[in-house]
Amino acid sequence: MTECAHRESGRNCPISKTPCLGECIYANILDDINLGIIGMDLSNKEVFFQNKLAVDIFKGTIKPKDYNALASLLLPESPLTSKDHNVSRTLRYGNKFIGCTIYNISERYLWIYISDVTEKVRLDSIAEAVNTMNNLGYIFSGIRHELGNPINSIKTTVTVLGNNINTYSKETVLEYINRALLDINRVEYLLNDLRTFSMYENPELKDVHMPSFMSNLLSMIDRDFNRNGIKIRTIFRPDAEVGYLDPRALHQVMLNILTNASDALRSKESAEIAISMFRIDGRIIIKVKDNGCGIPEEHMKHLFKPFSTTKTKGTGLGLVIVRKMLSKMDGTVEIESEEGRGTVVTLNLPEGHNSIS
Ligand SMILES: Nc1ncnc2c1ncn2[C@@H]1O[C@H](COP(=O)(O)OP(=O)(O)OP(=O)(O)O)[C@@H](O)[C@H]1O
Ligand SMILES: [Mg+2]
Repeated sequence: MTECAHRESGRNCPISKTPCLGECIYANILDDINLGIIGMDLSNKEVFFQNKLAVDIFKGTIKPKDYNALASLLLPESPLTSKDHNVSRTLRYGNKFIGCTIYNISERYLWIYISDVTEKVRLDSIAEAVNTMNNLGYIFSGIRHELGNPINSIKTTVTVLGNNINTYSKETVLEYINRALLDINRVEYLLNDLRTFSMYENPELKDVHMPSFMSNLLSMIDRDFNRNGIKIRTIFRPDAEVGYLDPRALHQVMLNILTNASDALRSKESAEIAISMFRIDGRIIIKVKDNGCGIPEEHMKHLFKPFSTTKTKGTGLGLVIVRKMLSKMDGTVEIESEEGRGTVVTLNLPEGHNSIS
């Protein structure tokens, strides 16, 4: 039988509430479980429990119950805050990866669950590399296609013009030049989207006052949207106060989403976009809802694929950029839509740490 952790720490049994007798079936189960478990006493700076698996993971490198070595590896450098609890982290230890979650029992006692996730991390990184290679091929063929079309068309226009320069009237020459310029604009538009795509590779995350961010954004777009007959309604709940993000990246994300909503509302009567913002479980949620054309069911699975567009002037990179920028900020995007009724885009973003007035 395993010596129970409560007896060593002089505490009552959490099940019977009486002084611990030492040998205990529960301690035995914890010892044999397929998860590394470490119990720490922060005041006395000691490890009061470490099961077999938690000893094996560090075999030959950290002695069993070595508080200093285990604490410096598993606990964050700065003093623990409530944000460190119940959060899973992956730590690198030599050539191993260790999944680690800290649960606090009280100010003084902690449980730490650990597992060797080296194999999982390796498989994940292989899957990611394969995915990137597949996507790269897809992206290159998309760019070739998107640039190839207008460039071919410019070539044809300029060749025809060159062959007939002495016979065409001034008006016809001008018409050909304008046609070539339109294609050049299209190439420029694509190059601009590609630039945005790589712009915030390393976003500068900081606490951002969300109501100010929103009023800034709205003051920029309000006039254009009104001119197009689109009414913008906002519902911002006061609990959505501070986000932790890069405001320039979120600005670009919101512009892409609002432009899509505006495109979907073209020639629609009583066109409306409702933007709401609130807080759930320590996350900031932003919803953008339009009553536009909606998205057909069969198109939903292609939304985040590069170059997938239903617009003559679109590049199909808008939502790819949205998803990429959000993932760099530990955020997510979800889209629900009903054809003919409208679309709701939901952003989920991390909350900031400090209140800003
Ligand atoms: N709010 C919306 N309502 C209806 N359809 C939408 C909406 N948002 C996106 N879509 C559909 O998703 C497609 C992809 O959107 P995305 O923003 O990625 O590219 P795009 O708008 O076509 O081109 P661009 O690169 O210029 O943004 C659109 O072509 C459109 O069919
Ligand atoms: Mg778009």
